[in-house]
Amino acid sequence: MAFKPMKTAVIGCGMISDIYLKNLKETYKITELVGCSDIIPERSAKQAEKYGIRQMTNEEIFADPEIEMVVNITYPTAHFEVSRRALEAGKHVYCEKMTTLTVEESTALLELAQSKGLFVGGAADTFLCGATQTARMIIDSGIVGTPVMANALLARSYHHERFNTAPYKRFAFCPGGGIIFDMGSYYLSELVFLLGPIKRVAGFSQIRNPHRTFVNPDSPLYGQPMEVESYNNTTGVLEFESGALGNITMTSESAKGTDTFQIFCTDGTIDLGDPNTYRTSIKIIDKVGKVSEIVTNFGYKGDNFRGLGVADAVYAIRNNRPARCSGELNRHVLEAALGICQSSEDGKYYEMTTRCERPEPFKPGYTERQEMQLEI
Ligand SMILES: NC(=O)c1ccc[n+]([C@@H]2O[C@H](COP(=O)([O-])OP(=O)(O)OC[C@H]3O[C@@H](n4cnc5c(N)ncnc54)[C@H](O)[C@@H]3O)[C@@H](O)[C@H]2O)c1
Repeated sequence: MAFKPMKTAVIGCGMISDIYLKNLKETYKITELVGCSDIIPERSAKQAEKYGIRQMTNEEIFADPEIEMVVNITYPTAHFEVSRRALEAGKHVYCEKMTTLTVEESTALLELAQSKGLFVGGAADTFLCGATQTARMIIDSGIVGTPVMANALLARSYHHERFNTAPYKRFAFCPGGGIIFDMGSYYLSELVFLLGPIKRVAGFSQIRNPHRTFVNPDSPLYGQPMEVESYNNTTGVLEFESGALGNITMTSESAKGTDTFQIFCTDGTIDLGDPNTYRTSIKIIDKVGKVSEIVTNFGYKGDNFRGLGVADAVYAIRNNRPARCSGELNRHVLEAALGICQSSEDGKYYEMTTRCERPEPFKPGYTERQEMQLEI
């Protein structure tokens, strides 16, 4: 088992960068964090100082022969170009969701990576958590019977026009950022990991309240109009190749938040919890309604492991095995979300054109450190 840390740089020093920089530097020993960049240099300067790494430009990262991995945590409209440039420069790329805006862009990146012998993939990586790995073990063992139906529901309130302080519109209102993409990717990635590829989808999707105004006086955009360019109220249905069905309902227009995520099987129900977190337990509800909580000892407990997919990808590259958060999985999940919206526009089912195998689960068993699982 090869253990050779990989020099890694982060592009994009916005809201989510703290936890990535912290974990890539401290939590995962297989990544050696060396630098960060942002088109707003004050942001990269601040993070470079905080984490004791080099403030760099994108170009400096691309040109540095020692950097092998680029972690792209810019916003979705910037993902494709940053990832393409990094691959062209000979770097492996791990990108946040949604990794591209279109299936064609995902295919272009996969082909570019393949032609250069590089890895491209990305988030969501929360399905690597102990809870979801346990759910997979339970499904594959058959002890709760056959999965027949999945239920994914998330209601949230996104009103960034009221809170925005960035000099640009939050990605949730831009292409690739609406809730079916932003949050839907967690649910869809986990469902594909558990149930396998999706065959076809259908849905209804709306942009509610599309014309808004930045109303936070602290925002540099205060008083300017703000257009919502991505669906914010979506309900979709899924048919898996396995024959299981599912629904996914995502709204960011609700006054109050709620979420549920379950898989109904012939002999019991699996309650998966919030797939936007790295969970340590799941619940099983049996035929007579008895609830049992299964607490897993998988890895570290109760923390935010963002970047786990990067660590897994580095182990994969070093040991010549497939990475779990693959570009094929990202593309399949993106196509499902886009397909639900397309179905709404066309008034008919959307047949999936991409597929991906279920990522390999981790081997069961307790380890003191999450990373020991990633080597498997
Ligand atoms: N905010 C969250 O809670 C969260 C959680 C999980 C995942 N994510 C994902 O992480 C990504 C980033 O989210 P965020 O909330 O940090 O967004 P953000 O807007 O706060 O940060 C994005 C940063 O990327 C920079 N950037 C844009 N284009 C660039 C380019 N070409 N080169 C260099 N830098 C560039 C911006 O200046 C900005 O600082 C998104 O894809 C999002 O879906 C966000």
